[in-house]
Amino acid sequence: MLPLEIKENFSLKPYNTFGIDVKARHFVEVTGLLQLQKLLQLSAYPKRLIISGGSNLLLTKDIDALVMHINLKGIQVVEEDDKAVILKVMAGENWHNLVLWTLDQGYGGLENLSLIPGNTGTAPIQNIGAYGVELKDVFLDCEAMNIKTQELEAFNKKDCQFGYRDSVFKNAAKGKYIITSVKLRLTKKNHALHTFYGAIEDELKAMGIVTPTIKDISDAVISIRSKKLPNPEDIGNSGSFFKNPVVSRKTFEKFREKHPNAPFYALENKEYKIPAGWLIEQCGFKGKRFGDAGVHEKQALVLVNHGRAKGVEIFELAEKIQETVTHTFGIRLIPEVNIIR
Ligand code: EPU
Repeated sequence: MLPLEIKENFSLKPYNTFGIDVKARHFVEVTGLLQLQKLLQLSAYPKRLIISGGSNLLLTKDIDALVMHINLKGIQVVEEDDKAVILKVMAGENWHNLVLWTLDQGYGGLENLSLIPGNTGTAPIQNIGAYGVELKDVFLDCEAMNIKTQELEAFNKKDCQFGYRDSVFKNAAKGKYIITSVKLRLTKKNHALHTFYGAIEDELKAMGIVTPTIKDISDAVISIRSKKLPNPEDIGNSGSFFKNPVVSRKTFEKFREKHPNAPFYALENKEYKIPAGWLIEQCGFKGKRFGDAGVHEKQALVLVNHGRAKGVEIFELAEKIQETVTHTFGIRLIPEVNIIR
């Protein structure tokens, strides 16, 4: 008998939204903090891969390690007054279900982040963001287990060093911690509505809404995302495969001279973000298919598994896209998906 319900040669297909069928040498569901501590103390499993919602993960081979699926559950109001509420959410809670639950309670702050796949514990790692809002805007702190000492440590907003699709957990703290819970501060009234993002304005107008509620904004975001982004339950994908490249003003000006019609966002620090989806589309990849690996027909930033693509095939397609974009525009795309090779 293997201890702590550890399974052997376990298919990870249901555990990654690309739907890649690779096997874990060992696999365990983590449902409690004590169990997590014990697992990390087992010397028989020195190699580990920590996974959660599997929505930002490309597996390219069988995993010769103990795969730990973080499935800690629970949502708790830890503090509240008449204006705001602080929630402690365990890492394994599905993000979108959390968003819907907060909207049912009338709590504002997460509406723009509706329908983002994945779990709450991984949201701080890449500071999830959409339609003008990022996790950091509602984030208070998180708890993470130090893999070496098995102690729980707190990371406040400053400790997390949030950036665009970035945090300390992708840098100095990478591979050293497992986030176990996240605290969010949400509003109970006078919600700060973020409707300035063009697509949201248009969608609300189409819905005939002039003074939107937080639920209306969530509905608008759900509608936009459903039109543009493939549902992983229908077609395997990991959302945006690459980050939007951020370039200096000098690089941007040269780029803009040659491509006056390219969309862009000017950032506060005088840098410019160029939509990777546009660059990829210009290179002719939108809607293309190479075997079962492909580029989504409505959003070129999303790579898809049409059925039985191997992780390596998706990876090779990503490399081909990277090379072509670099060759065409002199801009290197960086994947935002965690690629296990
Ligand atoms: N565009 C194209 N062709 C495409 C895709 C986009 O020309 O195939 C152009 C659009 O016309 C638009 C611009 O690129 O002018 C931006 O497109 P969009 O509004 O769809 O947003 P994005 O920059 O491609 C980012 C996030 C998304 C997030 C949206 C909305 C990244 C890497 N992606 O995409 O996040 O939903 O903004 O805020 O920053 C995700 O991370 O999985 C994700 C979906």
